[in-house]
Amino acid sequence: MALWGGRFESGPDALFRLYNDSLRFDYRLGTQDITGSIGWARAISRAGVLSADELTKLEAALNDLLAMLKTDPQAPLAVEAGGQGAEDIHSWVESALIDRVGSLGKKLHTGRSRNDQVATDLRLWTRDAIDERIAELFAAHRSLVALAAREKSTMVSGYTHLQRAQPVLFAHWALAYADMLARDIARFTDSRKRVNVCPLGSGALAGSAYQIDRVQLAKDLGFDSPTTNSLDGVSDRDFVAETLSAAAVCAAHLSRLGEDLVLYSSQEFGFIEFDDSVASGSSLMPQKKNPDAAELLRGKAGRIFGSLTALLTTIKGLPLAYNKDLQEDKEPLFDAMDHLSLSLRMVPKMLDTLKVRREVCERAAKGGYSNATDLADYLVSKGVPFREAHEQVGAVVRHALAAGKALEELPLADMQRFCSAAANDVFDRITITRGLAARELLGGTGTKAVEHAIARAAAFSAPGSDHIQP
Ligand code: ARG
Repeated sequence: MALWGGRFESGPDALFRLYNDSLRFDYRLGTQDITGSIGWARAISRAGVLSADELTKLEAALNDLLAMLKTDPQAPLAVEAGGQGAEDIHSWVESALIDRVGSLGKKLHTGRSRNDQVATDLRLWTRDAIDERIAELFAAHRSLVALAAREKSTMVSGYTHLQRAQPVLFAHWALAYADMLARDIARFTDSRKRVNVCPLGSGALAGSAYQIDRVQLAKDLGFDSPTTNSLDGVSDRDFVAETLSAAAVCAAHLSRLGEDLVLYSSQEFGFIEFDDSVASGSSLMPQKKNPDAAELLRGKAGRIFGSLTALLTTIKGLPLAYNKDLQEDKEPLFDAMDHLSLSLRMVPKMLDTLKVRREVCERAAKGGYSNATDLADYLVSKGVPFREAHEQVGAVVRHALAAGKALEELPLADMQRFCSAAANDVFDRITITRGLAARELLGGTGTKAVEHAIARAAAFSAPGSDHIQP
């Protein structure tokens, strides 16, 4: 049953229904639609539209429907569940209500439009989704911190341009991603503030004609405040754009993590091995163990960026106020949040069971002349200006490469041919341990600096601290 049949002589074309109806995806707003309806019923009862008795009956029926959808969220998709052939979730709830309380159900929509209704439902949905993503982000953060704690003494090569650059602690690598996820938590937390504003009472576009206490209504629904312009209230989807943008940045971080994990688990690097439970094999090549989960962390970013682009493109040319184009806001949001959730939940599964091959990591840390900067710093300590030291060390590296030796394997006399300031103590000063020990400043990879960083990160995501504003 359509909500708007009165003006029409004939029914809709079947293809138009298929094109126009949104129940097949917006049924996911079912519990939010009912919650919003309970809030609205109270608001119009305060405005004198419903008697106390009518409100009680409506609320009871709505709560009954709510319980039904909580046990079976897909109930609106089943034809026999009432609201046969409903156009969208709002029509479904209304006709399911009428099925239960008769014509009293027809009073609920007084002073309300599906325009302010859907905007409210979607904000309620987004608010919950953000809270879930934040909880998943905290869990992923905890796994990174746990990995860092396990590998706080493991040295590994750090890279720039994917060339061996300087040694770092494996923990330092893990905590880099923990910092990214902490910022993602902050971004979601911040966008939640602008999500949590109530458009109900904006009517179709001009505001409701009934004396609605919008401050009280917003409060009843757990919103921080009501929106302040009805045209904007019904048509604003910034809150979706902002949430999707936080999701997209987060997906970009997870994608980079995925890429590092793919590389590090390759035979060429061999730094890590995934547990069998999160890897898959090849249908043809019996020897293979593929890092599918890490690849999907990378791969899911594409569809999540796509959702953000789709939403922004949908809203960019819309005249005020509501336009049916806005119905296209839901699927990108649902899809992005579903897949971000999957990715975030995979992170602990992958990291908690990850095997780090410490000897391989250490070999890589030592190889590739990764102590060349330390040699230059050593020469600086002997009074050589850095630019000259850089030049001299470059020349020793070239010589050592030709000789097939590491810097520390060169005889002192060889070293001195290029670096006249080098003395006996040089070899002691270019060990990997010394290199790490030199980087004990805030944010550096020194052992103590990393221990502090682990403690800081652990305090940030310790269970129970999740609610703390980052
Ligand atoms: N299904 C619609 C949407 O998602 C609900 C709002 C319909 N409003 C209207 N004026 N036809 O946007």
